Amino acid sequence: MTSPLTSRFPYAKGSDGARRLGYGADYNPEQWPREVWAEDVRLMREAGVNTVSLAIFSWARIQPTAGTWDFGWLDEIMDLLHAGGIGVDLATATASPPPWLTTAHPEILPVTASGETVSPGARQHWRPTSPVFREHALRLVRELATRYAAHPALVAWHVNNELGCHNVYDFSDDAATAFRTWLRRRYTTLDALNHAWGTAFWSQRYSDFDQILPPRLAASHPNPTQQLDFKRFSSDALKEHLTAEREVLRELTPDVPVTTNFMVMGGTKGMDYADWAGEVDFVANDHYVIPGPQDRDELSFSANLTSGIAGHRPWFLMEHSTSAVNWQPVNLAKTPGELARDSLLHVAHGADAVCFFQWRQSAAGAEKYHSAMVPHAGEDSELFRSVVELGQTLEALAPIAGSEREPARVAVLFDWDSWWTSEHDSHPTSRLDYHREALDWYSALLRLGIRADVVPAHRADLAAYDVVVAPVLHMVSRTLTKELTCYVEGGGHLVTTYFSGVVDENDHIWLGGYPGALRELLGIRIEEFGPLLDGDTVALDNNTTGSLWTDRITVEGPDVDVLAGYRTGAYANRPAVTRRTTGRGSAAYVSTRLGAEGLTALLPELLAPAGVSSELPDEARGLVETAVRRDADSRYLFLINRSDTPVPLPGVTGDVLIGPAVAGDGLVLPPREVAVLRQGAH
Ligand code: GAL
Repeated sequence: MTSPLTSRFPYAKGSDGARRLGYGADYNPEQWPREVWAEDVRLMREAGVNTVSLAIFSWARIQPTAGTWDFGWLDEIMDLLHAGGIGVDLATATASPPPWLTTAHPEILPVTASGETVSPGARQHWRPTSPVFREHALRLVRELATRYAAHPALVAWHVNNELGCHNVYDFSDDAATAFRTWLRRRYTTLDALNHAWGTAFWSQRYSDFDQILPPRLAASHPNPTQQLDFKRFSSDALKEHLTAEREVLRELTPDVPVTTNFMVMGGTKGMDYADWAGEVDFVANDHYVIPGPQDRDELSFSANLTSGIAGHRPWFLMEHSTSAVNWQPVNLAKTPGELARDSLLHVAHGADAVCFFQWRQSAAGAEKYHSAMVPHAGEDSELFRSVVELGQTLEALAPIAGSEREPARVAVLFDWDSWWTSEHDSHPTSRLDYHREALDWYSALLRLGIRADVVPAHRADLAAYDVVVAPVLHMVSRTLTKELTCYVEGGGHLVTTYFSGVVDENDHIWLGGYPGALRELLGIRIEEFGPLLDGDTVALDNNTTGSLWTDRITVEGPDVDVLAGYRTGAYANRPAVTRRTTGRGSAAYVSTRLGAEGLTALLPELLAPAGVSSELPDEARGLVETAVRRDADSRYLFLINRSDTPVPLPGVTGDVLIGPAVAGDGLVLPPREVAVLRQGAH
């Protein structure tokens, strides 16, 4: 399968044509005296680094004043890196506007919902919709692209940096103007907009597009569809900046692939990356672990979703950390082995490059306590030795470069529109956490040793999956209803949850009883929601416990089985979990929040009609995570021991690329270790 993304991925092959994985970091040489640069290249070679992202925050150094340019230092470092055999993912340097620009043009600074102007002094203090910022940014991109078009070190372009990390929502006048243009494009007429926004409510009817504002600080809840459209618009505005920079790069360097680093991680929800993915030549992602009971599940979930966003083609891990970060309340160092394990989990889910923030730990600035590949302690450190070791491990994994992820039988759908709307204010509960619910389902699948793909709802090939889990699929259009119905009629098994199917794409309620768009398919009807207060729980008769939400369910359709009922609470003796058998498939509904533990107990019953169970031997279930990549010749089985005990894997065999040797009947995976086995072609 060749695809634009694969063929333009820069690291699947080295200059000698051999397969390899990318390895490296953000490199900020401008923070260091020139003497350090040669030392950097020496250490990079020692570590097996073959790629760095350069000049991400270098605008003020490259263009010290409006009319002067200083490329000398960058020429020198590009040449040095090239001489060292290190490729450069060159940033367009537009992420942090320099002081001369914000002083001359304070009108590029973002404005908060309550009208405060964000000051310069940190980074990313620019309005995505500012024409002035855009003009200066594109000028810089043009200068860089012209200068380095033919430089042999240049392997990819890195647009800006983490677009929207700090400036996704801007409520300025520029934003208001651009929002109105966006709305005119979406609705054409004011009547259509008034209808979509439900402006008959609270006397909000507009008689002119110019009356419309971003949802700035208001006396009470701003119009929900206005809020939703502002989220859609804000994601689009950043995407437009990405494509504006990309167009300049494509004009001047048509053969150099362009990417930007996404932030598919935890609760970063402002940017609809499923929608952005088509705009880059290969998907790149940044991921940082936030410590907690499900932290490695979250890492796996995010890497898996990144793969889904990339259409299961290889992607580029642009940043993660070798150890502690600097931006959490308490910044934990990684324990021995964690650095490699975290990296390899990304590789298991399709990363063909493993990069860190950053190469050398800063001596000054806001990130001086953030770990790096070369720590403050220098090369004589455990951390640097682990970095060198990881370089060797990635070399051993070179044969997997370019392989795609093998689809699983189960998909977990992830949908930005549902995420944005289900968590709006003025709802039955303010405690709903969309990402958390999706993660809980994924955690439960991991605990059962079942491989699953996390896929964007609107880009998923549903028919490819035996089971589709759609947690809190709140916003369901008529088209999606049809797709889900066809999926089930055709033999698919759909599982969905509370607060799903409730609204259409304008955030209007599907009338006649919940779960609206999915009522007929599920064969149930709900007249009223029963959210629970903090700390309140309900017992189910399958020995699980629900929290957050309950539903008063009436079974309506034919062939609906009640898989579990409420034992306590306001809806005691009524259904809690239902499944309708219809067509050649089934549609199940889980009306309360069961958490990872409850879902682990329930899932086997939900998966049974599809005949899905773990591919792992009994001894390994819940202890080992698996992922599979494959190419024309081979299947690569990743086994990640999530536990502190050695896990026997009888019957699991293959050529060991990394990990312990296979002895006799199978391998024994040491605690917290990773093995990759090459098996015959599928
Ligand atoms: C990212 C950013 C990097 C660095 C890193 C620290 O958000 O792209 O420049 O700040 O976080 O964890």
